[in-house]
Amino acid sequence: MTDHGTELSKLKVIFTAEVKKHHYKENGVWMIIHNNVYDVTSFLEEHPGGEDSLLDVAGKEATQDFEDVGHSDDARELMKKYLIGTLPPEEHKKTGGTTGEKDKFEPPCSNLKWAVFALAGALVFGIVLKKYLSK
Ligand code: HEM
Repeated sequence: MTDHGTELSKLKVIFTAEVKKHHYKENGVWMIIHNNVYDVTSFLEEHPGGEDSLLDVAGKEATQDFEDVGHSDDARELMKKYLIGTLPPEEHKKTGGTTGEKDKFEPPCSNLKWAVFALAGALVFGIVLKKYLSK
């Protein structure tokens, strides 16, 4: 496996608005799959799933359609050839899946953890204070 993180960080940043402009053959057919931008203009006629399926999602977010088909590992390897850029982080969609960057992991109970710590601290402080005052 290659270091995908480093590969991605070298990619050109392309905004969704720019991708939208490339939705027909004459202007190039671009699409977004797992927050990455692909230019499939030269692949249209070779696509085993047909030109039309690619034209349907031209200039759009195509992750769901791409995953719904259940593309093979070979297809995922092949798509690297057409990778031209990546969306800026603020335009990333949480799509899950097997390519692209993983969404940031946020521990769901970090606030609860701090509340328990604070409570335990207050309790210890209370006990010490009580002992000190009762002397
Ligand atoms: C860069 C993007 C893409 C690449 C490189 C690619 C490549 C391929 C390849 C190699 C296959 C043959 C089967 C396989 O190996 O999985 C295939 C099949 C297919 N693809 Fe794509 N594809 C891409 C994007 C898409 C998108 C966005 C859609 C739908 C909107 C799509 C729809 C299909 C369909 C319907 C099939 C036929 C499946 C079948 O007959 O079993 N593909 N694609």
